[in-house]
Amino acid sequence: MAIGLFTLAALAGIAYTSPVLHRRATSNDTTVFTNYNGLNFTQMNTTLPNVTIFATGGTIAGSSSDNTATTGYAEGDVTVLNLIDAVPSLLDVANVAGVQVANVGSEDITSDILLNLSKLIHQYVCDDPNMSGAVITHGTDTMEESAFFMDATVNCGKPVIMVGAMRPATAVSADGPFNLLEAVTVAADPNAKDRGTMLVMNDRIASTYYMTKMNANTLDTFKSVEMGFLGELISDKPYFYYPPSTPTGKAAYDVNNVTTIPRVDILFSYQDMHNDTLYNAIEAGAQGFVIAGAGAGGVTTSFNYAIEDVLNRLEIPIVQSFRTASGEVPLSDVSSTTASHIPSGYLNPQKSRILLGLLLAQGKNLTEIAAAFSPSVDD
Ligand SMILES: *[C@@H]1O[C@H](CO)[C@@H](O)[C@H](O)[C@H]1NC(C)=O
Ligand SMILES: *[C@@H]1O[C@H](CO)[C@@H](O)[C@H](O)[C@H]1NC(C)=O
Ligand SMILES: *[C@@H]1O[C@H](CO)[C@@H](O)[C@H](O)[C@H]1NC(C)=O
Ligand SMILES: *[C@@H]1O[C@H](CO)[C@@H](O)[C@H](O)[C@H]1NC(C)=O
Ligand SMILES: *[C@@H]1O[C@H](CO)[C@@H](O)[C@H](O)[C@H]1NC(C)=O
Ligand SMILES: *[C@@H]1O[C@H](CO)[C@@H](O)[C@H](O)[C@H]1NC(C)=O
Ligand SMILES: *[C@@H]1O[C@H](CO)[C@@H](O)[C@H](O)[C@H]1NC(C)=O
Ligand SMILES: *[C@@H]1O[C@H](CO)[C@@H](O)[C@H](O)[C@H]1NC(C)=O
Ligand SMILES: *[C@@H]1O[C@H](CO)[C@@H](O)[C@H](O)[C@H]1NC(C)=O
Repeated sequence: MAIGLFTLAALAGIAYTSPVLHRRATSNDTTVFTNYNGLNFTQMNTTLPNVTIFATGGTIAGSSSDNTATTGYAEGDVTVLNLIDAVPSLLDVANVAGVQVANVGSEDITSDILLNLSKLIHQYVCDDPNMSGAVITHGTDTMEESAFFMDATVNCGKPVIMVGAMRPATAVSADGPFNLLEAVTVAADPNAKDRGTMLVMNDRIASTYYMTKMNANTLDTFKSVEMGFLGELISDKPYFYYPPSTPTGKAAYDVNNVTTIPRVDILFSYQDMHNDTLYNAIEAGAQGFVIAGAGAGGVTTSFNYAIEDVLNRLEIPIVQSFRTASGEVPLSDVSSTTASHIPSGYLNPQKSRILLGLLLAQGKNLTEIAAAFSPSVDD
């Protein structure tokens, strides 16, 4: 139908006044419209919202229903063509363009990739008045880290949606295609504005400030145990439980001029914990630390001496978080008379690490770092 209309109009040489500027692409003709930013669209129906999909790799990247259909295309096009091929109904929801940012499993996402991704979202989505939102396809294992980084650094009001898959494309009832459709739907939804970076998977909409991966294998792995979800989708229709709100303590960071994020290591607390991991990492170049503390930030007595030595003598920040799946580190649980400890509040170790890296990238000192964590500390 769309192809017929386009062909007729072209043959007649008439000015194209219908809302359909360009028909959907066939598999031989991937780009039908290129916007001012150089983004390539496979369809341009101007009555539909526009969404940019940023591909980073992960299980969802293998969603193509027919990998042989892609021979001969540029790499960026292939991925988005693959996704549309697997989920043609995306094009009923939005015009989608794709940007290939990386193609790695989520363990290999680096802070350099995250800096690029944040800047590209600003360029292609925030700065384009015709773009409704962004979708980031990503492996699920470290998705909460990339999500926290985007939540902290992209704050233009447009929805940024993280999406992945738990089951491979070859599985019976693979979850990737439907997750992607739901993610694009939320990115295109006007009610999704001013809610920061969200995760859309398994019919749930979550704020990525709190959400964490709870189970290594199952479909319903992403949860915010205490804080809950923002909403859900039923038959691909989003429903938000609350109007937009900002998590307590969340701050916005501008990384436009940041070119590198300093190394921050996470050390896990356990019985018999030794201090050499800390000193060896400092020697290797770590500029900050997060402790996945036992209970509310706890470490062995001897490791606590080392923390105080490093805070006081070397002035290297060490943020004390929790190794439990949820909870909070209050100041009272880590405070002492001999050093100014930095509790993470409600931020888990992997989120604390992202925040500490952003603070160090901006040259913040120990006092400023403690102040940046303090709004999420309930004590
Ligand atoms: C363009 O999108 C509108 C929905 O906004 C839809 O009703 C219409 O059929 C679409 N046109 C084509 C040719 O797909
Ligand atoms: C795509 O290109 C191939 C080879 O040039 C051709 O055989 C095929 O008919 C084309 N398909 C479409 C849908 O245009
Ligand atoms: C759009 O397509 C052109 C031509 O194939 C390509 O050079 C360009 O890199 C594409 N844009 C993006 C953002 O991938
Ligand atoms: C989608 O983008 C096109 C091209 O920039 C624009 O003409 C159209 O108005 C946009 N759609 C919406 C709903 O903003
Ligand atoms: C980040 O973007 C720059 C500029 O496009 C590029 O040279 C660099 O390779 C990218 N880094 C990564 C890790 O993708
Ligand atoms: C946005 O879309 C409108 C309507 O199609 C168009 O006139 C305008 O040039 C577009 N703006 C950008 C920045 O592409
Ligand atoms: C980034 O650098 C530009 C040019 O040097 C400067 O004008 C701008 O204020 C800087 N932005 C921030 C947030 O530091
Ligand atoms: C670190 O551990 C070593 C070996 O147990 C000990 O000799 C040293 O005093 C500790 N350092 C601090 C600052 O507690
Ligand atoms: C940390 O930075 C703040 C703000 O720039 C400054 O007022 C304070 O004196 C600094 N503290 C230390 C210990 O350097």
